[in-house]
Amino acid sequence: MEIYYGNIAYSKSKTELVCHKNSYIVVDNGKVISIFDKLPVEYQKYQIIDYKDSIIIPAFSDLHVHAPQYPNRGIAMDELLYDWLNKYTFPLESKYKDPIFAKEVYEKFIEDLLRHGTMHASIYATIHNEATDILINLLEEKGIRSFVGKVNMDKDSPDYLIEDTLESIKNTEIFIKKHQNNLYAKPIITPRFAPTCSFELLKKLGELGKKYNCGTQTHIVESLWEREEAKKCYPGCTSDMRIYERADLINKPFIAGHFIFPSEEDIEILKKYDGYAVQCPNATVNVIAGIMRTGYLLDNDINLSYGSDISAGEYLGIYRGISDSIRLSKIKSFYENDDRSITFKEAFYIATKKSGEIFGNVGSFEEGYEFDALVINNMSDSFIDLSIEEMLERFCYLGETKDITHRYLRGKEIII
Ligand code: GUN
Ligand code: FE
Repeated sequence: MEIYYGNIAYSKSKTELVCHKNSYIVVDNGKVISIFDKLPVEYQKYQIIDYKDSIIIPAFSDLHVHAPQYPNRGIAMDELLYDWLNKYTFPLESKYKDPIFAKEVYEKFIEDLLRHGTMHASIYATIHNEATDILINLLEEKGIRSFVGKVNMDKDSPDYLIEDTLESIKNTEIFIKKHQNNLYAKPIITPRFAPTCSFELLKKLGELGKKYNCGTQTHIVESLWEREEAKKCYPGCTSDMRIYERADLINKPFIAGHFIFPSEEDIEILKKYDGYAVQCPNATVNVIAGIMRTGYLLDNDINLSYGSDISAGEYLGIYRGISDSIRLSKIKSFYENDDRSITFKEAFYIATKKSGEIFGNVGSFEEGYEFDALVINNMSDSFIDLSIEEMLERFCYLGETKDITHRYLRGKEIII
């Protein structure tokens, strides 16, 4: 049994941010038992870990991130998607045929993910099996709840980063079989996006998904170029989502990266299969150039989540995604007039409880949730008194990794 004292905050729903000032959170076997303002007698015999005026919050989840692109973050940010992929991203990804290079990067990537307070993630690797095995094994060893995909791409890709269709299927099946019984890091089927995948590939991946009960992640209507290119490649399909439905590749969880320019048909299909749309607020303004209708999708009960999308996005911290997402929703509603702006409560909920739900009971401190938690500086100064919610909001706008002072994964402190 462990007891932590401090200011405790977590989301219950998109309208409810629960804040307990100067309270105790009781954790047993890595799971939350309860939160008390006054510690009941039966718990008073246990040692209390005193975090004073710090804030204790659930760890973040990142539902769209490319681990191999980690070395490219913060460069080529003046390009748009097509050129950024061809000039910078594909050449870097081709280096992962070298497992030594892969191990070096993937170790650093995971360490930095944790440093930024993200403890659950849905991750793209590359087309290479050996490097992808290294990534998923590192995550499994560390007990990080995650989905990891060996990327598939069999057309319209450079010679140095393309697969033969049947080889791609064979290697995906080998990858899934090897890791399907993992406890924490699970395989997910990862066709890169419609423009680089043949229909035969998508159909066969759909069969693998059914056979191994494996979800799918991909990029969906992420830019106007991509949306039109997908329709050109698949003339019978009136929307990006329809391509995956025709291929019978919408297995659970279905994680749709970006989802910036969806038609009503895209929305209808995503909703029908209970899929997740991932806003990557950072990447959106760097190489993609479009803003998701977050308020509209929230109001239409679409599962919304956040991703860093390293390296189209430059910053790993999902807390910065929260502030960027709020800012973008204002621009969208004020200048384009087709959305409403979202609240801090909504954005914090999306980043923690909502994005966490695909990994199990993580992202909140309700009873039975895993104690995957961050202790953060309270961000106050002597000028005005801030409520816990305001301190948390300030952390999402001004906070840096140095403001995350402790990290817990299932009740065990992680030292970085
Ligand atoms: N579309 C296809 N591949 C990628 C990628 O690696 N990153 C982003 N942001 N979009 C993509
Ligand atoms: Fe991406």
